[in-house]
Amino acid sequence: MKFAQIVGWGMHVPDKVIGNDAFVQMGLDTSHEWIASRTGIHERRFVENGQPVSDLAVKAAQQALQVADAHPSDIDLVILATCTPDQVMPSSASFVQHRLGATKAGAFDLNAACAGFVYALSTAAAQIESGRAETVMVIGADELSTHLNWQDRTTCVLFGDGAGAVLLRASDEPGIMASTTGSDGSGAGLLEIRGGGTLANSNGHASNGNAFLTMKGPQIFRWATQKLGEAATKVIEESDLTVDQVDLFVPHQANLRIIDAAARRLGLPEEKVFSNVDTYGNTSAASIPIALCEAISQDRVHVGDNMILTSFGSGLSWAALVIRWGTPIPSSVPRWTPIRLSLETRVAAVRSAFKKSQRAVRATIGERLNKDGD
Ligand code: UT7
Repeated sequence: MKFAQIVGWGMHVPDKVIGNDAFVQMGLDTSHEWIASRTGIHERRFVENGQPVSDLAVKAAQQALQVADAHPSDIDLVILATCTPDQVMPSSASFVQHRLGATKAGAFDLNAACAGFVYALSTAAAQIESGRAETVMVIGADELSTHLNWQDRTTCVLFGDGAGAVLLRASDEPGIMASTTGSDGSGAGLLEIRGGGTLANSNGHASNGNAFLTMKGPQIFRWATQKLGEAATKVIEESDLTVDQVDLFVPHQANLRIIDAAARRLGLPEEKVFSNVDTYGNTSAASIPIALCEAISQDRVHVGDNMILTSFGSGLSWAALVIRWGTPIPSSVPRWTPIRLSLETRVAAVRSAFKKSQRAVRATIGERLNKDGD
């Protein structure tokens, strides 16, 4: 039996840091005290100058390749979990695949909103376990700042932008041991962005505020505190583990009160729970891979550890997963690896420019031939 093992990881957040006071300065009826005490959030990052989500994703994925000392051409599949793609089509994963120079890889976006990264990990693990893929890049990246209504204090203070990635490789040792995914579309209206889809477009309502995220926060709060614990319990049991054998719980970073309540329900002590919602806010599909990267850099992940990842969000959707960590944490990246990767990225850019011009030449010749034929 093959297992999917995380062998590389990386994260990227925009440079622009927004503290809670920035919202007060914008004239919003809020305060640092309210935001910090009700959510645990102190600051978040927002993209600037139209930086697309694929750009954050590429940077996180490049780091994951670097840690794994892997080549872009090793990748069989790129799965990008996002609900804020660069454009409706093609998938943002295609841009990422192309920019990485992952010439052998298939690529697609997966939209399960904030639950997307764990959904994507579960999907990638199934590909590896079935033997259909050997190496899969899984990325969670979102820019919900591009959908926030700056007049709505109940939503705009909660979210941030970012990306995180892991490289999965087939291994004889576990690995991802169990996973569960769930959906309850009856709660679709609790957290949504209505614009950009066929419904809004065919109604002629593509704009008019439909691009804004809306949320019934307290209802999501009540549902999430229960669902996180339920989903975690399910995968712990499926892995034949007990709660005592869990070394680290990495939940979706939406609200510290949700995380604490879920940990209490599970009976997990504080030292086994990871949270960085204070620094990044809710980065949607990026929240778990960013938390994972920070847990690793804070020496909270060790070979043999049992980790639980749980996520929830719009859909309503949720997912949970158990990982037995199997990769030693490298103390440093070999000196030549960044140089090699930077060269490979440049080669990918030249290849891209060449292919584009080849296409343009072919199109011109085709047009000429068609005209001559007329
Ligand atoms: O990825 C999944 C995404 N979503 C979530 O996980 C969100 C889950 N929900 C939550 O995290 C919480 O429900 C919120 C943080 C959104 C809200 O916290 P709450 O403790 O549930 O507050 P509330 O909505 O019950 O509001 C309490 C009061 C209200 O005022 P009134 O009606 O009592 O006068 C709100 O209008 O707090 C007010 N309020 C604020 N006050 C200052 C709401 N947002 C703010 C704000 N600043 N930013």
